Amino acid sequence: MRVVSGIQPTGNLHLGNYLGAIRNWVKMQDEMEEGSECLFFLADLHAISMPHDPAELRSGTLEMVAALVACGIDPSRSVLFNQAQVPAHTELQWLLNGTARMGWLNRMTQFKDKSGKNREGSSVALFTYPVLQAADVLLYQATHVPVGDDQKQHLELARDIAQKFNNDFCTEDAPVFTLPDPIVPPEAARIMSLRDGSAKMSKSDPSEMSRINLVDDADTIIKKVKKAKSDADALPSEEKGLEGRPEAQNLVTIYAAVTGESVDQVLGRFGGEGFGKFKPALGEVLVETLAPISERFRDLKSDRESLDAILARGAAKAREIGRPTIDKTYQALGL
Ligand code: ADP
Ligand code: NA
Repeated sequence: MRVVSGIQPTGNLHLGNYLGAIRNWVKMQDEMEEGSECLFFLADLHAISMPHDPAELRSGTLEMVAALVACGIDPSRSVLFNQAQVPAHTELQWLLNGTARMGWLNRMTQFKDKSGKNREGSSVALFTYPVLQAADVLLYQATHVPVGDDQKQHLELARDIAQKFNNDFCTEDAPVFTLPDPIVPPEAARIMSLRDGSAKMSKSDPSEMSRINLVDDADTIIKKVKKAKSDADALPSEEKGLEGRPEAQNLVTIYAAVTGESVDQVLGRFGGEGFGKFKPALGEVLVETLAPISERFRDLKSDRESLDAILARGAAKAREIGRPTIDKTYQALGL
């Protein structure tokens, strides 16, 4: 089993990014069986399909590596790298452009969503990046790719490209590409703002108090939890539930996500208690989980040399794994 998964290299990481995305990767890595492996990449090449700031992209990439390692991705067990350092991604994309059909790309709903009314002004990269995504996984002969709902169509495209290429250019007993199967990532918590239970916790929220950042120290975490918006009522019993109480629901969801309990279990323990009691308990479990991560994260973030070394090592390994696929692709195409 070889799992390949990418993440956009964003900066200013927060609790939502950890519980909703990064932690799933750590779980996947930790659940890999002997002989299986995970390749995790930062999709920095994808980032240039939209308007972007080069300095931010660079710092976001480094920050994301620091966060991944701080959260438990082990670069000696998983292959951790950024696309831009493995030219085979772009190389294979071009080679697959010959196989991908215009009609297939025209059907991609994400291009329609992201280009909106500005189709003519969109970058060519935005239109063709599903082919880069296909290259991202086909390059490594991925057997499994975790995909959320929004990425299902792109994985289908990768399979279509692989199948057509194998059909058109390979003998039946020597296909170049493995058709990757989707795996549904473990269900991730959706974390809402601490100031507004109906808005997602996000780096773009101007209020610092709305989110817990991965760099926050223990005191800051406790202060933010204490100030978090809640309501005047006690927490309900499991039977009664949290319907209609978005702020309370969010805080209980965070507690459950952090401790690995279910919402019902948390209510079973705290039902009948007010926030005066619940918030300190939440602050405590958050600090317990996040303090070691944020400490490591802050150390790593400022250790440019280690981050570069991690990425260089990961890229070297990725190039080695991808090389045979590239060679076979050229050969199959008569190049
Ligand atoms: P932001 O909304 O802060 O800009 P991104 O869009 O960069 O975050 O998201 C990066 C990853 O983190 C994505 O996989 C996304 O699903 C996850 N994520 C972001 N915010 C949250 C949240 N509030 N709850 C759960 N997951 C989140
Ligand atoms: Na976002």
